[in-house]
Amino acid sequence: MSEVATDKQLVVEPAGGRPLTGRLRAPGDKSVSHRSLLIAARAAGRSRIRGLSNGEDVRHTLEAVVALGAGVERAGAELYVEGGPGRLHEPEAVIDVGNSGTGIRLLAGFTAALDGMTVLQGDSSVARRPMDRVVVPLRLMGVQVDGREDGKFPPLVVRGGKARAIDYTPTVASAQVKSAVLFAGLGAEGVTTVHEPVPTRAHTEEMLAAAGGEISVDDEGNGRRITLRPGALRAGEIDVPADPSQAAFWAVAACLTPGSDLVLEDVYVGRGRAGFIDVLRRMGARIELAGEDPVRHTADIHVASGPLRGTDVGGAEVPSLIDEIPVLAVAAAFAEGPTRFSDAAELKVKETDRVASTVELLQALGARAEPAPDGLVVHGGAGRPLKGGTVESYGDHRIAMAGAVAALGADAPVTVNGWDATATSYPGFEEDLRACLRR
Ligand code: S3P
Repeated sequence: MSEVATDKQLVVEPAGGRPLTGRLRAPGDKSVSHRSLLIAARAAGRSRIRGLSNGEDVRHTLEAVVALGAGVERAGAELYVEGGPGRLHEPEAVIDVGNSGTGIRLLAGFTAALDGMTVLQGDSSVARRPMDRVVVPLRLMGVQVDGREDGKFPPLVVRGGKARAIDYTPTVASAQVKSAVLFAGLGAEGVTTVHEPVPTRAHTEEMLAAAGGEISVDDEGNGRRITLRPGALRAGEIDVPADPSQAAFWAVAACLTPGSDLVLEDVYVGRGRAGFIDVLRRMGARIELAGEDPVRHTADIHVASGPLRGTDVGGAEVPSLIDEIPVLAVAAAFAEGPTRFSDAAELKVKETDRVASTVELLQALGARAEPAPDGLVVHGGAGRPLKGGTVESYGDHRIAMAGAVAALGADAPVTVNGWDATATSYPGFEEDLRACLRR
């Protein structure tokens, strides 16, 4: 597997009888954070964003909206964004999205609606990620987009400003593709329609509606149809909920560390994000939701330790837990019986090939796991500890954090090589781990 160069290591000791307890708030949701910045940049006036993700991926999107003309001011935990179509302009330099596939794909759609040329590039992982999934619909909208290998890979060059609406069904179940088309549609002539045979996370629709966008979402078969009219957005206040994809690491850690009893606060559990909770419950985990907020789609997740059993994960639930599969695979390694992840070929085109990197991680710690054509199979050890050793993140934040969670249930320390990758989404993971074990 090819890798992004990272140099930091973290040695994680087994939990060894120390349970995870207390309350924890995972960082601000990454998907919501990217969209908060883009929507606030497009909305005329001053928006206030509270609880933005503090990871590198979102910092890159913040720098991108500044390069595109938005004004940004920090005040403690709050961020003020001065936006509006009148402020936005062609950037003077190449925009660097860092490690963020979401950043580059959403920005491709966003800049398609702006006059001028934008060049988007990222690190060596982003350079390998498929871009044709957004380039194809943007070209159908009449936008000139180019990239390496005729638009298959970054850097991308977007010449925006004259988009026209399309009626489009993405070829992959991807919220990033849907969102790129909708962001482009904000400035396009006509009504943009996206059909989703398999629904994906709904942040863009929810947040555009909250900002006064003329958007409607209707059921269509087992999926959904989203219709958007171009128009102005209004500035407002955005409270970013805690990230379910980050909360999932703690949920699994609490499940497999005896005596644990942990509350994960204010987590987004809305459409397309809470699949990991259903899977862990199917595996026998003790998980309760409390304090549900139907407007913000949030809840506190209460997790207690207990034995797990294997399950099958596949079909329409996959987009709702795609980012959680590495850590669910760790849970599966402690379960009784096999767990099969299928319909998950998308794993191969994430920050790393997560079929390969997850299987390698589990095998390095003595678990039985193997790749499958569209996912992976993990043969659980029925609660037996994993062995200590060294795992490689290959520059993938979620693989690094999955390694740290696996280490809690090992019988000797685990060294995670490339721990610095966690800065892309969760710079405080190590600190939060220490805090949960200390209480
Ligand atoms: C995201 C969508 C998902 C997910 C990614 C974030 C988003 O990707 O894996 O981490 O914010 O829209 P796809 O849309 O490519 O499935």
